[in-house]
Amino acid sequence: MLSKFERYPLTFGPTPIEHLPRLTAHLGGDVLIYAKREDCNSGLAFGGNKLRKLEYIVPDAIASGADTLVTIGGVQSNHTRMVAAVAAKIGMKCRLIQEAWVPHEDAVYDRVGNIMLSRIMGAETQLVEDSFDIGIRDSWTKAIEDVKAKGGKPYAIPAGASVHKFGGLGFVGFAEEVRAQEAAMGLRFDYVVVCTVTGSTHAGMVVGFAADGRARNVIGIDASCTPAQTKAQVLEIARNTAELIGAPAITADDIVLNADYAYPVYGVPSKETVAAIRLSARLEGMITDPVYEGKSMQGMIDLVQKGFFPKGSKVLYAHLGGAPALNGYSYTFRNG
Ligand SMILES: Cc1ncc(COP(=O)(O)O)c(C=O)c1O
Repeated sequence: MLSKFERYPLTFGPTPIEHLPRLTAHLGGDVLIYAKREDCNSGLAFGGNKLRKLEYIVPDAIASGADTLVTIGGVQSNHTRMVAAVAAKIGMKCRLIQEAWVPHEDAVYDRVGNIMLSRIMGAETQLVEDSFDIGIRDSWTKAIEDVKAKGGKPYAIPAGASVHKFGGLGFVGFAEEVRAQEAAMGLRFDYVVVCTVTGSTHAGMVVGFAADGRARNVIGIDASCTPAQTKAQVLEIARNTAELIGAPAITADDIVLNADYAYPVYGVPSKETVAAIRLSARLEGMITDPVYEGKSMQGMIDLVQKGFFPKGSKVLYAHLGGAPALNGYSYTFRNG
């Protein structure tokens, strides 16, 4: 489905799928849990889900003649870290708007983890006091204008690389890759669990899995805490992506987004999220974060416990990365 689009390789290749036997057994053994390790997908600054998206965006950035990638996220955004890494890799400058999306008070929150890595990679980071919103932001459009005013040539990448015309392509590729791995493994996953915020990860998967009738088996776990806006954005990206690649249209019913686990707000973990992070770490040595993957892990665990997945189901947890943000939450985990 993607062969007509140019792709700039930023990842190692197909990501591994591993069975999680101890988590499976802990949850009763009736639902078989696997993880697809997007968190281990690249040597670029610890990797993560944004790289699949950026692989289809970078050719356009290079062709535009730009010299500066400009993007936006929260202070501990994984996406901005990934754009900083890609800018370094392709020899461009990087301007990052880091908004105050998370009401989290930690003395070193703006010095460690993702933002520290972005600074090490040479990105210019600008802290802005605006709160969470996945939409197009003034601070970002102003930064684009500022790069131009200073004689630079910006290339604009929206939050999460999501509402970019090519933002959904990477995770269509994820679905194609899963199909090939299923054939090699001799199994078929009944559900995919994915953390959803800016939407293009989920949207790309929906388009990709629609090809074999599994669009609605992609269970988005909202971590934005603004689920109506996130769901609308997933649908819009999925529709645009399907049209772009010439796939059948996506409808609102194809987008399954569970809003039960994003509380209390974006970026702040509940005690149940923290418990899920500890559980998967202690049973599988698999590290998830308080902003995204801990919430989707909590959701998957709870859905297994509630009997949402029929007995015998095979569930694929998409581990999208994000562990560097843990450094901003050291107080929460001071005793493990
Ligand atoms: C680790 C991690 N998981 C999940 C997500 C959600 O992906 P998306 O923004 O494409 O919905 C993000 C980024 O927002 C992320 O960095």
